[in-house]
Amino acid sequence: MPTLISKIPPLSTLVNQDEQIELRARAAREHRATALAHPNIAFIKYWGNIDHLQRLPANPSLSMNLADLYTVTSVTFEMGLNQDVLSINGTQVTGPGLTRVTASLNLIRTETGLNRAARVESESNFPVGSGIASSAAAFAALSVAGAAAAGLALTEAELSRLARRGSGSACRSVPAGYCQWLAGNDQTSVATSLAGPDHWNLRDLVVIVSQEHKSVGSTGGHQIADTSSLQPARVAGAESRLAACRQALLARDLATMGPVIEEDTIIMHAVMMSGHPPLYYWHPATMAVIQATQQWRREELPVYFTIDAGPNVHLICEAEHAPAVEAAARRIAGVQDVLISGAGGPARLIEF
Ligand code: PMV
Repeated sequence: MPTLISKIPPLSTLVNQDEQIELRARAAREHRATALAHPNIAFIKYWGNIDHLQRLPANPSLSMNLADLYTVTSVTFEMGLNQDVLSINGTQVTGPGLTRVTASLNLIRTETGLNRAARVESESNFPVGSGIASSAAAFAALSVAGAAAAGLALTEAELSRLARRGSGSACRSVPAGYCQWLAGNDQTSVATSLAGPDHWNLRDLVVIVSQEHKSVGSTGGHQIADTSSLQPARVAGAESRLAACRQALLARDLATMGPVIEEDTIIMHAVMMSGHPPLYYWHPATMAVIQATQQWRREELPVYFTIDAGPNVHLICEAEHAPAVEAAARRIAGVQDVLISGAGGPARLIEF
């Protein structure tokens, strides 16, 4: 039975650093810690690696943490446990899911010399298959809780690196608010915050058109990105799109940022669709939402779309326009639900 989420107090995007230090000290004593992290939506996308094992991205990316959605993960290094045990939303997980978590915990164990297996419990307050990259929040929370439970005092950059090794985009869920992840080597390819959650009243409206589990996930997708002849062009232009997006973000200029994030999305999906094998993530309703977005803009509703590795569409607008966008999105045939979130804080330890 899921038990963690029900105990979470109302969240603030602000984090008390003294409390974090105290929680870290207690975690080191008890070999147990619980952390919370938000998923993030990329405005400039990461797609393709130059090193798959270390998850070193082909290009830099930029994202916003999603305050209203989160994953809570608790890690206990237990004496007498033979191997890591993982439960997600109350269900025990073995096989590739467990192997991936064990690989992240091994990085921590190697660093500390700790020779204990861990019990990991993880729960999210958003549905699987909802178009939210659940692995980003999951590996950010696992890294923060795992490092603390092992008594490892890591900097934000070191935690971001650890999270990246579990799931690339997870490194962007470690710092607060709007984050940039630079390409680089294993030490330098980490995410940093460009602006805190209170910088801009942006909203992400996740328009759910399908909850089906996708057949090729992002780990597999990154591995075939180079089979598209469009990938070199996408990578070559990523830096300048990121610079334009960053400048508009810092100036809170959605009219400039919106077209850049739409272009970046379409280029990534063109790479996906033209690879071998091709990845067609869109459904007919995905296209209907794209076309509706263009129509809403003609009607003076400022809203822009972005789409991750799936059929669901993220609509980005300022908070004052969110109710109108939500109502309009819900009227489109094939739309099942709309989840709404503002910008979120960093991954952090929580009291348990
Ligand atoms: O971190 P991954 O391996 O789940 O890859 C994320 C890929 C996209 O969501 C499509 C883009 C991004 O930058 O988040």
